[in-house]
Amino acid sequence: MGLVNDALGLPQSVLILGGGSDIARALVRSLVATRTRTVVLGGRPDSKTIALAVDEAREGGASAVGTVHFDAMDPASVATAVDEAFAAYGDFDLVVVAFGVLGDQATAEADPSAAVEVATVNYAAAVTAGLAAARHLRSQGHGTLLALSTVAGERVRRANFVYGSSKAGMDGFYQGLGDALAGSGARVVIVRPGFVRTAMTAGMDPAPFATDADTVAAAIVAGLGKGSQTIWVPSLLRWVFVVFRHLPRVIWRRIPG
Ligand SMILES: NC(=O)c1ccc[n+]([C@@H]2O[C@H](COP(=O)([O-])OP(=O)(O)OC[C@H]3O[C@@H](n4cnc5c(N)ncnc54)[C@H](OP(=O)(O)O)[C@@H]3O)[C@@H](O)[C@H]2O)c1
Repeated sequence: MGLVNDALGLPQSVLILGGGSDIARALVRSLVATRTRTVVLGGRPDSKTIALAVDEAREGGASAVGTVHFDAMDPASVATAVDEAFAAYGDFDLVVVAFGVLGDQATAEADPSAAVEVATVNYAAAVTAGLAAARHLRSQGHGTLLALSTVAGERVRRANFVYGSSKAGMDGFYQGLGDALAGSGARVVIVRPGFVRTAMTAGMDPAPFATDADTVAAAIVAGLGKGSQTIWVPSLLRWVFVVFRHLPRVIWRRIPG
């Protein structure tokens, strides 16, 4: 099953950690419209949006839909949830790490425990998720591990350096994990969207090149079909960041939030 799916790039079975996120829900809607039939959504047990995602997956045509529970503030619970999903549903063609928090930069600068919360969810739990999922993908000999990173980690800004640095760490971790999986049959795909209009950014002024969750989902599906390793959304941001990466810090530190 896996070899056929990998050749086409599009999965029949997906495990989404952070399955209630707006981007994850849009991705599930896009995937079930193609060939995805098994959908397992992971997240906090009281997440209302996971319940919506379950309904959307079923309505979209998935034949097996399930949930597993974890709280990313307790990274070990993420590994347990991954193990439960593989034990209950067998192989997955695609595992997506979508959970994350933006946090509030001013609060995080004033209260280190708030900063640690962002680092725990976005970095420590994402590391745990990646290692737990990679172990299963390596042993099944196929599958894609897709990490929702961000351009905010490509060059960390003064205006949101707690979030940006947590995602920079996460992005670097998944790059290395992808290299570690080379030759195993499993692979890592990193997605770097710019500003996306979702629950996470509600009430914020959109940044230049802002997109929505459906656009990110469409880019992911297209990228999976093409076998991309890195998916920038919109794709132009890749070249924008080639320039941004080299701006002098005296200019870069003035880039607003
Ligand atoms: N929006 C953007 O501009 C943007 C840009 C680039 C990358 N991203 C990344 O894309 C991913 C999805 O974000 P989104 O925009 O779709 O935001 P979202 O709708 O706010 O989704 C965030 C998800 O993270 C989950 N989550 C937060 N804390 C958790 C915890 N302690 N345990 C378990 N789950 C937890 C939330 O679960 P609950 O349902 O329980 O709250 C929610 O499903 C994130 O990793 C984000 O960093 C977002």
